Amino acid sequence: MQTNDPITLLFAPRARPPLILAPMAGVTDAPFRALASRFGADLTVSEMIASQALIRGVGKSFKLGERAGPESVLAVQIAGADPAAMVQAACMQVERGAGIIDINMGCPVKKIVGTGAGAALLRDEVLAGRIMESVVRAAAVPVTVKIRLGWDDQHRNGIAMARIAEAAGIRAITVHGRTRAQMYSGMADWEAIAEIKSRVTIPVIGNGDVTTPEQAREWWKKSGVDGIMIGRAALGRPWIFREIAHFLETGQRAEPLTLAQRQAVIVEHFHAMMRHHGQRTGHLLARKHLGWFTRGFPNGAALRDQINHTPHPEEVLVLLERFFAGLVTERAA
Ligand SMILES: Cc1cc2nc3c(=O)[nH]c(=O)nc-3n(C[C@H](O)[C@H](O)[C@H](O)COP(=O)(O)O)c2cc1C
Repeated sequence: MQTNDPITLLFAPRARPPLILAPMAGVTDAPFRALASRFGADLTVSEMIASQALIRGVGKSFKLGERAGPESVLAVQIAGADPAAMVQAACMQVERGAGIIDINMGCPVKKIVGTGAGAALLRDEVLAGRIMESVVRAAAVPVTVKIRLGWDDQHRNGIAMARIAEAAGIRAITVHGRTRAQMYSGMADWEAIAEIKSRVTIPVIGNGDVTTPEQAREWWKKSGVDGIMIGRAALGRPWIFREIAHFLETGQRAEPLTLAQRQAVIVEHFHAMMRHHGQRTGHLLARKHLGWFTRGFPNGAALRDQINHTPHPEEVLVLLERFFAGLVTERAA
């Protein structure tokens, strides 16, 4: 039977689990999501958008959930602690083209938790359930939720939260294998993710510390998760999706990108950032991506220093050109 349902399509049986770009505030804007999609991400998720800001009509909030172009499905993540506001925010995003609404119940930062949103909802299962039910009922598209394992080691309620989600009609749940108290320290606990996976029937997406194709395969096999979400490892390396997909499908490592291909991606993304955000803002926001893209290269630090000190985008392009020409010469020598 043909379906347009994005969750059914995402988890349709195939040789490997879908690979998903994690929502990352300040990172997964439309240009970066487009890049990840181009390199094989099966789904990408917008940055977290505060429901209240969206309702107040703060312009920047709309920008965060803009479509990335070639992406087939726009998944928009919303955050908040008031069911009515979350419903309103979800409906606004659906009207603007969202095909999936993701609810943030994992953000650990004080500014968010202090308002009762993000990971704070792990401490209020009743309210979390009401938010999920309300958004599911109101949104005309599938609703997913992203959680952590619990607030802290004494309060690991990931299984309870997943069951609440399932009962509320949530279509898939992402589990970042850390507690809120851990923030980003230690390693993600994939055994705990596996345990949650085994207790619900809706798809579970595992998340946390996946950085290599081999690790993706090992944790996927061990945990049985239905999907894998990748965040930090995609910074400066959006082709990781293609690398992992290739490895899971063939058992072989994909050919690495050539220097020329990497240069082309970096330059193209720089232009895309300026087109999307406007020249000035795009240039400034692109600096951190340029930093990630040039990590690990000899003389990368000097290049980053120069890039961060020029106010002229044309000069950035010249610096990149010179940098890559130098690398080619060095490799040939
Ligand atoms: C810079 C940054 C911003 C993030 N912003 C969000 C966000 O807006 N919403 C969210 O659910 N998680 C957010 N996260 C968490 C990631 O989605 C992900 O759960 C976490 O980084 C663990 O996955 P990883 O080890 O693959 O990076 C953010 C993480 C980083 C590093």
